[in-house]
Amino acid sequence: MQSIASYITLLGTVLLIGVFYFVISNSKLQEEYSSFSKKWYSFRGKWFIFLIILGTALTLGTLIPFPIPSQAKVYSSDDYQQVDVSGHQWYWTMSTDTVVAGKPVEFRVIGADVNHGFGVYNEDLELVAQVQAMPDYTNKLIHTFDEPGKYRIFCLEYCGLAHHVMMSELKVEAAN
Ligand code: CUA
Repeated sequence: MQSIASYITLLGTVLLIGVFYFVISNSKLQEEYSSFSKKWYSFRGKWFIFLIILGTALTLGTLIPFPIPSQAKVYSSDDYQQVDVSGHQWYWTMSTDTVVAGKPVEFRVIGADVNHGFGVYNEDLELVAQVQAMPDYTNKLIHTFDEPGKYRIFCLEYCGLAHHVMMSELKVEAAN
């Protein structure tokens, strides 16, 4: 493997030297320059426009399926399950540890002492929702659990010595 890599490197170096030699040996020829530059300058203009279109398309195409669901309340308040969450050094308190799947949950999250990170993980330990837990400010996080199961709460912001033990559980029950 290593010898293949060194041969490829050697070949590339020889090619590069060849290109340098070609450019240097042709650098004194002036006569063809204006037609050459005209052709390539017009290509450069088209290439620039192409890159702008490509960049715009890629930006829109990758940003529109934005991974974070809208946090605007679209139903009446009665349709939300409310969970008050408070982060402490080093534990979580929650007004309830059980919610129902398929119906939006509004977490109202606050930090009781310092900044914490409220992170909700599914059974495969994939992060499904998260928000900052800040002192003196209530952050609202709306999330609808599609799958019933046992979800884990971890702290996502280093908050002191026992940050890593700041864990809790949330049961999501199937809707009747
Ligand atoms: Cu709380 Cu880290």
